[in-house]
Amino acid sequence: MSKIIIANWKSNPSGIKEAFSLARKIREGVAKIKNAEVVIAPPFPFLEQVGIAVKNLKLGAQNVFWADGPYTGEVSVNQLKNLGVKYVIVGHSERKIYLGETDDMINKKVRAVLAGGLSAVLCVGERERNGIEIPPAVGEQLKNALLGVKKNFLRNLIVAYEPVWAISTMPGAKPDTPDNAFKAMVYIRKIISGLYGQESADSLRIIYGGSVSAGNIRSFMRDGGMDGALVGGASIRPEEFVSLVRNSI
Ligand code: PGA
Repeated sequence: MSKIIIANWKSNPSGIKEAFSLARKIREGVAKIKNAEVVIAPPFPFLEQVGIAVKNLKLGAQNVFWADGPYTGEVSVNQLKNLGVKYVIVGHSERKIYLGETDDMINKKVRAVLAGGLSAVLCVGERERNGIEIPPAVGEQLKNALLGVKKNFLRNLIVAYEPVWAISTMPGAKPDTPDNAFKAMVYIRKIISGLYGQESADSLRIIYGGSVSAGNIRSFMRDGGMDGALVGGASIRPEEFVSLVRNSI
């Protein structure tokens, strides 16, 4: 299966012109790269224009609300669908840390995204790592997020393993090692196998996020056994991002 590389632009860039130009540069840069699925997840106000600019790439959203209706400031699954969004990032650690997003909210979002026919990119990852094992908190996050999710929806789920301490904006951040990412991949598959059986676990796409760069992506794919990456900082540097996509395959 082709690798999936998801650009999480976070709250960048500051204006629509910059967003359009960034999207164009990425589209042109990756046009000839086969075997990589590229998803651009811009801030909400730029979704429509970026969708036009990226054409044959996929469009992602960084967040969603679980219902339509009178929810001031929120954006629903249907609204995202109508804009051509295919992937929705759910449970990013920045939302948990700065906006108080809880496991329960994440569960509602995952269910709404999957029920709406979109793919959910569910982020899990520990705040700190003290030993060499993947902390059980990661498994708890996964189980809580998937409460009530039926097996047949799993094909639209991607799990992003994002150790919070490895995200480039955290103080002292450094990327995880490919060996650890491999352990996380095995650990996540084991949890999914326990919940849904081996077949679902084997076909689940698991990606890594946390200080991914053009220089280290290859080792996460090859040695870390990852199916792709969720990319923050490097996704708004178009030249680096294009090299990153090229190096992922
Ligand atoms: P980073 O961000 O690549 O800048 O570490 C990843 C993320 O937060 O999804």
